[in-house]
Amino acid sequence: MNDFKAVLEEKKKLVWPEIERRLNRFLDFPPFCKVDDKYKPLSKFHQKMVSDYPLRKGKYVRPTLLILTAEAMGVSTGKTIKTAAAMQTSEDWILIHDDIEDDSLERRGKPTLHRLYGKELAINAGDSLHILMWQILKDNFEVIGHKKARAIIDEFVQILNRTTLGQTVEIKWTQENKTILTDRDIFFILESKTAYYTIAGPMRLGAILAGASKKQLETIYQFGQYLGRCFQIRDDLLDLTSDFSGLKKQKGNDIYEGKRTIMLAHLLRNIKGKEKDKLLKVLKKTRAQKTENEVGWVIKMMKKHGSLEYGKKLAEKLACQAKEFFDGNLGFISRNPAREQLRAGINFILERKH
Ligand code: IPE
Ligand code: IPE
Ligand code: MG
Ligand code: MG
Repeated sequence: MNDFKAVLEEKKKLVWPEIERRLNRFLDFPPFCKVDDKYKPLSKFHQKMVSDYPLRKGKYVRPTLLILTAEAMGVSTGKTIKTAAAMQTSEDWILIHDDIEDDSLERRGKPTLHRLYGKELAINAGDSLHILMWQILKDNFEVIGHKKARAIIDEFVQILNRTTLGQTVEIKWTQENKTILTDRDIFFILESKTAYYTIAGPMRLGAILAGASKKQLETIYQFGQYLGRCFQIRDDLLDLTSDFSGLKKQKGNDIYEGKRTIMLAHLLRNIKGKEKDKLLKVLKKTRAQKTENEVGWVIKMMKKHGSLEYGKKLAEKLACQAKEFFDGNLGFISRNPAREQLRAGINFILERKH
């Protein structure tokens, strides 16, 4: 676990300068559309908002998986940095928008962007970062050549289309207050917004840099189903049970939000009678209407009916399946130390505290 943390830090040090350089320069316009000095303070303000989430940094799981996969398939690190920087930048704009969609209070230990500046400006800052991501991918052509740079862009398009579909389904089921949910339903959300976006996508991007075959890329996608589900269940368990190592103040944010998680789906399937009536009544309420007591009661019910234990066991099983699949099918991700580091990432994802 600690070894993988060191790997995350090492890759962050490689990728961050690429992002930082662009954040410092993206408002340098050519002479014909140069910003008048009078409006420089506003330009600075825009730049500050856009740079806020990138500066908070996060764990860098996605760029790290990307670089390790590429390295383990023989690509030199230098050729991976731009793709990894674009991957991280995608997360930063998605999270700005996700925090608005979920009306979250905190992100990476600080108030969410829309709580600092309001929704209008936060949406716009997210748009700006989104543009920065495509700009990095455009510059990739010079580093990795036309064919690979195009393939990388195609993969980004696919990952992001699937992610936004996942977000729609999740938000829609919350809005409709859907209360009959199988694990399969939840896995459909997880396949899109986590398994592909967080695990398979970054690894496939690394593999594309190495010229992987279609079959190899499909195998990586399958691997992502195990580890991605595990990642999100762990994320959702942390929300219910911890303070994310002090990075979040509001426990049970997902219950305020009405998020459809494996644990909530399990509770809905197992709770009966008066308790069920009360649960449905709480779920019908908006975030503002829900009280701390009610949210605490839902977590208590999750404990009582074994939903937390169910999620924990499921995440452990998925991590075991991920390891078996990794050992049995991902032999082509072969070079060390990157291969062993990737394998260590499986335990990190299961055991992480934030
Ligand atoms: C948060 O991902 C979004 C999810 C898909 C759950 P991370 O836990 O990787 O967030 P950071 O980037 O490290 O903050
Ligand atoms: C957001 O998912 C992640 C993406 C859309 C990629 P969540 O809403 O589940 O993540 P948190 O809990 O806010 O970090
Ligand atoms: Mg969220
Ligand atoms: Mg969300």
